[in-house]
Parts: sequence; C-alpha cells; structure tokens
Amino acid sequence: MTALTSFFTSSIGKKFLMAVSGVGLIGFIIAHLIGNLLIFGGQEALNAYAKGLHDLGGLLWVARIGLITIFVVHVGAAIALTRDNRAARPDSYQSKGTVKASLASKNMGLSGSFILLFVIGHLLHFTWGVIQPESHTLIDAQGRHDVYSMVVTGFSNLAVSIPYIFSLILLGAHLSHAMSSFFQTLGFNHPTYTPLINKGAPVLAMAITIGYLAIPVSVICKIITL
Ligand code: HEM
Repeated sequence: MTALTSFFTSSIGKKFLMAVSGVGLIGFIIAHLIGNLLIFGGQEALNAYAKGLHDLGGLLWVARIGLITIFVVHVGAAIALTRDNRAARPDSYQSKGTVKASLASKNMGLSGSFILLFVIGHLLHFTWGVIQPESHTLIDAQGRHDVYSMVVTGFSNLAVSIPYIFSLILLGAHLSHAMSSFFQTLGFNHPTYTPLINKGAPVLAMAITIGYLAIPVSVICKIITL
C-alpha cells in the first residue's frame, strides 16, 4: 500500500477528503444561489443566464462531472467515516451525551441524507422535468427554456414549496456545522481565529439559507409573479 493510499484510507484522510469536497460543494451552492437570485431581476435576467449556462455545452458537462465527482467523494467519505466511528465505538449508547455537541453537529448524517434526497427530487423537478413536466416545457418569447416561469409555477404549489423550505433549512443547519468543523478537520486551531470562525460560519450559513429561502417565500407571498 502506498503512503497516499494509506493516508486516504485512514480516518484523518477520509475527514480531509470530506472537508475538501465539502468546500467544492459550498462553492457550487454559493454560485448556484447567485445565479438563482437573478429571479429577482425578472424573467429576462434569469432565462438569459440559464441559456448562457446551457450554451457552454461541453464546458458545462466538465463542470457537471466535476460536481458529481466531489459529491460522490463527499458522500462516500461520510459513509466510510460513519462505519469507522461505529467500529471504534460499538456501544453507541455509552457515548451519548458525553461530548458537548450542537443539534446540527449530532445530526450531520441525518441532514446529509435528507439533502441527498432533496437534490435527487430537485433534479427530477427542475433539471429533468419528471415532477411538474408541464412547466418544464415552457418557452419564453425569445424561444428559450422559460426557467423563470418553471420556478414560479413550481413554487406557487405549496406541496412543492413547503418541502423545499424545509430542505433549505436543513441545508442551512448542515452548512453551519460543516463550515465551522472544516478548519478543525484540517488541524487549524488558533486562540483568536477559531472562536471567530465558530461565530462566522453560522452567519455565512444563515446568509446562504436566507438567500435560497427568499425565492420560494417570495413566490408564495406573490412578490415574484408570472
Ligand atoms: C430556491 C432554491 C433553488 C432554486 C430556485 C433552484 C433552481 C434550479 C434550477 C432552475 C435548476 C435547473 C437549471 C437549468 O437546467 O436551467 C437547478 C439545477 C440544479 N440545482 Fe438548484 N435550485 C435551488 C436550490 C438548490 C440547492 C440548495 C442545491 C444543492 C444543495 C441545488 C442543486 C442543483 C443542482 C445539482 C442542479 C443541476 C445543475 C446542472 O444541471 O448542472 N439547487 N436548480
């Protein structure tokens, strides 16, 4: 076994893979949020942006394959680490309540699994048009995929927007813990900066969550309309 293989199969190596892939995912989440917020600029702004992305063609596929790879690494490392932890602590009952941990940190596996389900549902909805197929085929006056109307029609239905809102809140909790534990995982522990990071991470996670929540909430409140 090479030194590199034994590093990535060790617990610290898996944590490292989870942290680094997590940063990639946060990068996507922030970029996706900025793109989605164009909905507040109206139909033209969002549809032109979506068309611009699709026109990237091969480059878009390179980005998608990169995103899928880091997603698989993140989920794979999380599953492997959970197995390692269980093997090291077969009596999970004894360990309960012994470590000072927030609700978010104790439920990373649960919120992570739910986010995975959310992403699958989200792709079935907005990317593949399996959910609400009638709104996926809408075309705007310029002959472009009408992403604006698809999103507004989607979130106008409370059976769609309420599960979205719930998932986005869980994503916020997951991000909040993930961003503060990132530096700890990489062994960064500083008397001044660590407390600042621990305070800043939830603020950034909250800003991302509020940004995403603003979209379904604005549709429900008719601030964004067709
Ligand atoms: C209010 C919240 C959100 C809205 C309105 C939204 C909107 C969209 C839309 C319209 C698409 C399809 C783009 C297109 O094909 O033109 C899309 C794709 C996607 N979204 Fe979201 N999204 C939201 C939240 C999220 C979150 C929180 C995540 C991740 C945790 C996410 C992950 C993805 C992924 C992975 C794709 C596929 C990208 C691709 O086709 O390459 N989205 N989203």
